[in-house]
Amino acid sequence: SVVRAGSYTDELLKTAKTIASPGRGILAIDESNATAGKRLASIGLDNTEENRQAYRQLLLTTPGLGDYISGSILFEETLYQSTTDGKKFVDVLRDQNIVPGIKVDKGLVPLPGSNNESWCQGLDGLASRSAEYYKQGARFAKWRTVVSIPCGPSALAVKEAAWGLARYAAISQDNGLVPIVEPEILLDGDHPIERTLEVAERVWAEVFYYLAENNVVFEGILLKPSMVTPGAEHKEKASPDTIAKYTLTMLKRRVPPAVPGIMFLSGGQSEVEATLNLHAMNQSPNPWHVSFSYARALQNTVLKTWQGRPENVDAAQRALLIRAKANSLAQLGKYSA
Ligand code: 13P
Repeated sequence: SVVRAGSYTDELLKTAKTIASPGRGILAIDESNATAGKRLASIGLDNTEENRQAYRQLLLTTPGLGDYISGSILFEETLYQSTTDGKKFVDVLRDQNIVPGIKVDKGLVPLPGSNNESWCQGLDGLASRSAEYYKQGARFAKWRTVVSIPCGPSALAVKEAAWGLARYAAISQDNGLVPIVEPEILLDGDHPIERTLEVAERVWAEVFYYLAENNVVFEGILLKPSMVTPGAEHKEKASPDTIAKYTLTMLKRRVPPAVPGIMFLSGGQSEVEATLNLHAMNQSPNPWHVSFSYARALQNTVLKTWQGRPENVDAAQRALLIRAKANSLAQLGKYSA
């Protein structure tokens, strides 16, 4: 069994396994209030708590969601909210066998001494916040930091990102939350795919070095990597097969098989691209569950379909289920367009 003790170890392993279950992945709806405001503005709605609640209610009460979704990452506000009928969102999720999760980082700020790069806030007070989130029903956490290829990345920025993720992961496990480890390597730039591979290998090497140094239990974490692709402004796009080949090469070189699940972010890919890339990665057996933790690639059509109108809720929920099912099939390597 696992080396590090701690009262939550068994539960952590169980939570991670539940989230990494065949044919299921994560619905990420943990947009901060600022980001939620941008999404609502795109369909002409004001950024009020009422509108955020209505939108999250639409997503989380979708009938049949639990067939394809094993976990949902919430923003703090949503963790404490209920449906308009008074049922806690946490209970709505549990009734569908979906594990509630919580975004715990406090966002990015400039990193002094770096090449215009940023670092991620949120370690102060994290232990007590995590204990509170556990009491509220959360069983996993997410911390997103970023690495920019056009900005370098500098050795300082990579080290800071890796160390912050490792501290967060140890604190989460200590409080019963499975940490999702997310160093997002941004798509920005005109670099070729080989350059992304090189940076991703460097970042994940440091992340695992510090995870080990902080005695994090690898069986009780999940990863949220970016797929290895060319920069968004690179002259040629890569095919799903090429993206799968590079991404799996990187993961096999850097990620121990003890890690139960790899839950990719969509990072600005279109809905269909994100599905096709995931499908390509599941064409042969992998040492880990390879799945999704998409926000935009699950929500874009839903938002457009909803438009803030009660009469569109059913259609918007059907749109969510279509994307969720497509990604479920892609997780199983059985998607066809
Ligand atoms: P996207 O899938 O939109 O990139 O979001 C990823 C994320 O970190 C949300 O939790």
